[in-house]
Amino acid sequence: MPPIEMPRNPPEDPIRSHPTRAEQLDILSDLVADRAGEGDRVLDLGIGTGYVARLILDKTPLISLTGIDLKAESLDAARETLAGRVKALDLVEGNLEDLADLDVPAGPYRAIYTVLTFHDLPDEAKIAAIRWSAERLAPGGALFILDRIRLHRPALFPLQIALWNRIERIYGSPMRSAVDFDSYIADMGERNRPARFEDYFAWMEDAGLAPSCLHLHGNIGLFAGMRP
Ligand SMILES: C[S@@+](CC[C@H](N)C(=O)[O-])C[C@H]1O[C@@H](n2cnc3c(N)ncnc32)[C@H](O)[C@@H]1O
Repeated sequence: MPPIEMPRNPPEDPIRSHPTRAEQLDILSDLVADRAGEGDRVLDLGIGTGYVARLILDKTPLISLTGIDLKAESLDAARETLAGRVKALDLVEGNLEDLADLDVPAGPYRAIYTVLTFHDLPDEAKIAAIRWSAERLAPGGALFILDRIRLHRPALFPLQIALWNRIERIYGSPMRSAVDFDSYIADMGERNRPARFEDYFAWMEDAGLAPSCLHLHGNIGLFAGMRP
């Protein structure tokens, strides 16, 4: 059987060390492009340098995009990344932990997405951001969360290690390494506090969204919450 060619991160991806990211971003960008077309509003929570927004705009260039980030320098980089690729762009400096202060268009949004940002937030802020997003989605709109999930069952950890080893064999770079559950937990902190898989379902359901996990590879999940 010929070897399977897995999608690879290009050099311009600021988080290219993440082995499964190219495949997962390809899925996310397909799904956002499928939901949002000309004139539809789309919101990126934690836009960073605009790399993910660019992938989405390559597939659906006529959306109206708003991006939020804590850091002015990231927004400057995003402005440069997206120059000439977007019809309408709003870049907003703000903190996802202070939702009431965010000065963003009210919506409604056809899609709201966040990539590798929610693990920076405490759980209360994740819950509030999910609820805030649900209130701003158009009927039939979707919230997408692509992020690490928290592993919390020590008995399953050997399977996770085997999965990480397999990812490293296939992609040539590691996703995350921890020799055992205790050292995995010791690595949790202010900049690394992912939510548990089950929590995303419960929080989305509480916010009135129909939840699903659309893709899971290693400990990185792509969750969706659809507004009926
Ligand atoms: C790891 S980067 C991911 C950037 C982008 N989503 C990507 O995947 O290329 C996380 C981004 O979230 C932003 N961020 C983290 N905490 C935030 C907060 N509380 N409010 C707004 N942005 C935040 C950071 O400044 C950073 O740009």
